[in-house]
Amino acid sequence: MIEALRKWGNSYTERGRYSPVGIAFHWIMAALVLFQIGWGFWTDWMMPGGDKVAAYQIHSAAGLPVLLLAVGRMLWRTLIVDPYNDADRQGVQTKIAHVTAILFYVTFFSLPLSGWIMWSSIAAPGPLYLGGVLPWPQVPLSDLAPRTAFVILDLAEDVHTASVIALLALIPAHVGAALKHHFWDRHDVLRGMLPEVPDWQDDRTAGRHTPTPTALRQGTEAG
Ligand code: HEM
Repeated sequence: MIEALRKWGNSYTERGRYSPVGIAFHWIMAALVLFQIGWGFWTDWMMPGGDKVAAYQIHSAAGLPVLLLAVGRMLWRTLIVDPYNDADRQGVQTKIAHVTAILFYVTFFSLPLSGWIMWSSIAAPGPLYLGGVLPWPQVPLSDLAPRTAFVILDLAEDVHTASVIALLALIPAHVGAALKHHFWDRHDVLRGMLPEVPDWQDDRTAGRHTPTPTALRQGTEAG
């Protein structure tokens, strides 16, 4: 099973592409993280009250899957290596891209984990649900001495904010680099992360009408 998966994934990697699983991880997580940043700030600015609590409930429900997806994505990457593409031949730029990728992964863990801890404080606004459906346990902070629990809570809040600030720098850098590779350098990186679309040379277009040489000649003579 694992061998078959690896073979399937590598059939994409060998062509400089990410596998459909890798592509799904990337775009689902990108959508969730972008939503969470917007929704997190929106919720933060809301007046205290029932609406704010409900908004945080949505924030926690959409944020917890990021933790599971990050674990799944890391496991997937250990199984199927990323493709070696044009962006991997750029010297210092490649090194910066690798550091950026590591920092992204750090935030994929630090944000849901710190949010989970914050939610588990004594003033927890309610039970946690993964994706708003599956019950999710609280971190047992109440078992700790109140002072220790407070220090952990305070740290979690700082980690959450620092991770958001890091993302606000990482995302424009990452998107900007992807667009530069695609439009300026004409590299294959972004294309490898998009779903594959068969081009006009694909065998499936073999039935296309092709003008016969005679028809072409007549056309030329007439013109
Ligand atoms: C990728 C996942 C996440 C992202 C991108 C994210 C983003 C944000 C943002 C932008 C804010 C507002 C700015 C700030 O106060 O730092 C915020 C606040 C908050 N988030 Fe998240 N978050 C994520 C996951 C979670 C999860 C899973 C939970 C709970 C289980 C959570 C709980 C909270 C709480 C309680 C606050 C308020 C913090 C405060 O008032 O100091 N977050 N988040």
